[in-house]
Amino acid sequence: MATDAIAASPFERIGGRETIEAVSNRFYDLMDSDPAYAELRAMHAPDLTRMRVELARFLVGWCGGPRDWFEDNPGKCMMSLHKPFTISHDVAGQWAEAMQRAIADVGPVDAQMAGALSSVLSDLSLGMAR
Ligand code: HEM
Repeated sequence: MATDAIAASPFERIGGRETIEAVSNRFYDLMDSDPAYAELRAMHAPDLTRMRVELARFLVGWCGGPRDWFEDNPGKCMMSLHKPFTISHDVAGQWAEAMQRAIADVGPVDAQMAGALSSVLSDLSLGMAR
C-alpha cells in the first residue's frame, strides 16, 4: 500500500492549529457582536481572551492534534465541565449556530471535514442542553 494512503487526521485535514485558532476567534467575535447570541454571551466572563485560547487548545487536541489542553486538564470532559451551567435549548442552539457560522466564515480548504466538524460540534452543543 502506498504511504500516501495513510489517512490524515481531522486536525491535519482541517488546516491545523492556525485554522482552529481562526475558528475560535471568529466564534467569540460573533458571540461578542451579534445580539442573537446575547444570552450565550452573558454567561461568559467580560473578557473572552482566555476562552479564545482554551477553546482552540481543546479543539486542537480533540481533532487529533497536540494534546496540551488534555494534559493540563487531566480526566476532565467537556460535558462535566459544563455541568455547573444551566444550558437551555435556546442557548445551546446559539452556540451551535455561532460555531457553524465561524467554521463557514473561516472556510477550511477541506470542505468535507469542515462540514463534519460543524455537524459534530452542533450535536455536542445541543447534547449539553437540559
Ligand atoms: C451548549 C452551549 C454551551 C454553553 C452555554 C457554554 C458555556 C460555557 C461557559 C459559560 C464557560 C465558562 C466561560 C468563562 O469562564 O468565561 C465555558 C467554558 C468552556 N467551554 Fe463551553 N459552552 C457551551 C458549549 C461548549 C462546547 C460544545 C464546547 C466544546 C466543543 C465548549 C468548550 C468550552 C471550553 C474549552 C471551555 C473552557 C474550559 C476551561 O478550560 O475552563 N463549550 N463554556
